[in-house]
Amino acid sequence: PSSRVSLTVNGERHTVTVDNRTSLLDLLREHLDLPGSKKGCNAGACGACTVLVGGRRVNSCLTLAVRLDGADVTTIEGLADGDQLHPLQKAFIEEDAFQCGYCTPGQIMSGVGCIQEGHAGSKDEIREWMSGNLCRCGCYVKIVRAVEQTAH
Ligand code: FES
Repeated sequence: PSSRVSLTVNGERHTVTVDNRTSLLDLLREHLDLPGSKKGCNAGACGACTVLVGGRRVNSCLTLAVRLDGADVTTIEGLADGDQLHPLQKAFIEEDAFQCGYCTPGQIMSGVGCIQEGHAGSKDEIREWMSGNLCRCGCYVKIVRAVEQTAH
């Protein structure tokens, strides 16, 4: 069975018909041509697919698209303001907070959520609240620094 879902993604309204089992991640990548959110584990373990729904972080691989009728979704593609990068995107560049870059969209979306949720008070707090985002290159020290610098 399939359903129609209307949602706003990065400020643009979309109405799509999807199989009821479609994840938000697949909706973004395959139906809306937004491949910035990455499919690492597809099982809620790595955080590479993190996006904001109503300003809160979710693992888009674990979120059913059909549950999001009327939702407001922000992905890495919608974070910059035109040519103006989001402060956390700038901080990732300044701090050199990535190597291969695969986890970076999820790290940045999670970092934005972490700051907005008020969980970026200290390095320890950031580490705790971003523990769902894995980085195989081991850039954690710089990622935490970038989030901390943006929050303060
Ligand atoms: Fe969603 Fe890994 S792809 S948590």
